[in-house]
Amino acid sequence: MKKILFAGLCALMLGAIPAGAQFGPRMIPEPTDGLKDAYKDYFKIGVAVNNRNVTDPDQIKVVLREFNSITAENAMKPQPTEPKKGEFNWKDADEIANFCRANGIKMRGHTLMWHSQIGSWMYQDEKGNLLPKEEFYANMKHHIQAIVERYKDVVYCWDVVNEAVADSPVYPGRPELRDSPMYKIAGEEFIYKAFEYAHEADPDALLFYNDYNDAEPAKSQRIFNLVKRMKDAGVPIDGIGMQAHYNVYGPTMKEVDDAIKLYSTVVDHIHLTELDIRVNEDMGGGLRFNQGKATVADWEKTLQQDQYTQLFKVLRKHKDVIDCVTFWNVSDKDSWLGVRNYPLLFDENYKPKQAYLAVKNFDPKMDNVEIIEDFKPSECNQPGQEYPMVNSQGYARFKVIAPKATSVIVSLGLGGSGGTVLHKAEDGSWMGTTDGPMDEGFHYYHLTVDGGVLNDPGTNNYYGSTRWESGIEIPAHDADFYAMKNVPHGKVQQVLFWSNSTNQVRVAWVYTPADYDKTKKKYPVLYLQHGWGENEYAWWNQGHANLIMDNLIAEGKIQPFIVVMTYGMTNDVRPGGAGLRGFNYKDFETVLCDELVPFVDANFRTIAKKESRAMAGLSMGGMETHSITLARPEMFGWYGLLSGGTYNPEEVQGTGVKGIFIGCGSKEGPDQIRNAAKKLQEAGYNAKGYVSEGTAHEFLTWRRCLLEMAPMLFTK
Ligand code: XIL
Repeated sequence: MKKILFAGLCALMLGAIPAGAQFGPRMIPEPTDGLKDAYKDYFKIGVAVNNRNVTDPDQIKVVLREFNSITAENAMKPQPTEPKKGEFNWKDADEIANFCRANGIKMRGHTLMWHSQIGSWMYQDEKGNLLPKEEFYANMKHHIQAIVERYKDVVYCWDVVNEAVADSPVYPGRPELRDSPMYKIAGEEFIYKAFEYAHEADPDALLFYNDYNDAEPAKSQRIFNLVKRMKDAGVPIDGIGMQAHYNVYGPTMKEVDDAIKLYSTVVDHIHLTELDIRVNEDMGGGLRFNQGKATVADWEKTLQQDQYTQLFKVLRKHKDVIDCVTFWNVSDKDSWLGVRNYPLLFDENYKPKQAYLAVKNFDPKMDNVEIIEDFKPSECNQPGQEYPMVNSQGYARFKVIAPKATSVIVSLGLGGSGGTVLHKAEDGSWMGTTDGPMDEGFHYYHLTVDGGVLNDPGTNNYYGSTRWESGIEIPAHDADFYAMKNVPHGKVQQVLFWSNSTNQVRVAWVYTPADYDKTKKKYPVLYLQHGWGENEYAWWNQGHANLIMDNLIAEGKIQPFIVVMTYGMTNDVRPGGAGLRGFNYKDFETVLCDELVPFVDANFRTIAKKESRAMAGLSMGGMETHSITLARPEMFGWYGLLSGGTYNPEEVQGTGVKGIFIGCGSKEGPDQIRNAAKKLQEAGYNAKGYVSEGTAHEFLTWRRCLLEMAPMLFTK
């Protein structure tokens, strides 16, 4: 079963969240503080705004809550501010600057010199001929001075020159700089001059060179080379702006890390100036771009979330040199890339995405954790398979061979991460390690390769999520109780029984204790149900119910009993669909009570009485147990709900129940279990409540529940 889905199912059963809210896309509550607060010890979090963003009250709310540095997306560029020589248009720029002044927010000025969005008067005459250098410099100087002076009270830094370095590839003998009109007129010198004019106009402003494809190794080297030459020539440059128009496939975090390291050898200030992460393979600052797709798949959202998460991890590491990270636009609705590119942390409705939480709710302790390199093959692996591996801290590491794939995601990850994104290793394989230690115990998972869902060929298969999934086991500290040991072992045998009501042969697995074949004794029986998405294999294959029984019997902790595991007919019901609430347990009740129980009583040495018959189930099997035990009080004397809801004293009144077990993981709303157990006990019932520490809606919870429940069954 998928964790997320089942958190929902579990909550439904335990009544933890209001009806209707359980299964939709997970709602992220409106934040009470912002990214700027989460990153206050690291760097400023900025945003590029248009004029609507600073006039619409709803958008203002988001801007003021989240950000503490503001860039005008277009309003301070050369063309918008001075479309014709000497004709200034300050309206939009003033509106944004005044908003910042009123709210005490300092601005990043963007941008003084750029080959785009610039009036051609700056560098050519009316006939289209390039101007003489002196005239161009005079134009540049008066423009730069006018704007820098006007906003010097509110602008703390400027992107002085934008995008002057050539894109890759640069062929031998070609200039490292963009062949723009400015470059044609003055060569590299125009860049130096722009910085000098800006410095004269405001000696206090931090001055940046800004560019895209800033982490691509060859271009970042050219950017570095330019800035180094400027520094050597005594040009007043303070920092490098990495535009950071990235995508979900790249750059790699090593490339980003390498670029930051390289830049930090030549400047003391690095800003990410225009961050966005689009869902297609385009990159960079080109003004023609892929428009993206109408719908963004969940796996693409996972890639994006991972790219954001890993990027901010790298940025936090470099907080000494990085002092501002600016998102290029507030929400997807504003984005210059268009809403279909899904590039930002706020969606088209200005609502935070899951990726927002991932960026914001980082754990500083995890940033510096050393992963211990004692990885061993998981015990769920197929013979001879090295991967996946687990280490002593509970990290899982995956390796998948898929040479032509563009993305590989493992569905296992922490919190709401949606999975672990693998990256191409040097040998062409895809590798990745979970972002932190996983919960102890067994986890189902699968791979998503370029959007297609597959199993990991490294592992055995386990039926969950209505299919045979991959599985991994994070060794639990208490794994001994379900370990395969040198003790007498019972049998798990398949039985086939005819079911009139469904007109077919059905399957059950029957555990008989080790001494069953040696004695003539009759045994009590536990009917033990799996959860939604699982089948009759689950309890012994991944649940190790037989080993738990063998060990308990060997230690003399329980009287031996038979366990019967059959398919609960749950898989046609989809949690999230309308079916769950209306799920009719009657069909299974008939199969179980009127067909299977008589079959088992006829074919095994059972004590065919209510007092010696128990029913228990996990998750949806718990819902079945709840309903069937109450509907057929003459059948079962012992009831068990494992992450599958609770009983209250009123409903069990008159059933003649001998004992009730209710349990769940500590990560599943355990108070409801504790409270319900207390109420049952106060009402005089033989009830036990149990909470499995540190586990969620997964099999270690249920293995432990069986361990705790078995000793109380059939005791009176
Ligand atoms: C973009 C704006 O977001 C768009 O509204 C405008 O039409 C074009 O420019 N690199 C830069 C930014 O430095 O100024 C660009 O902004 C995006 C690429």
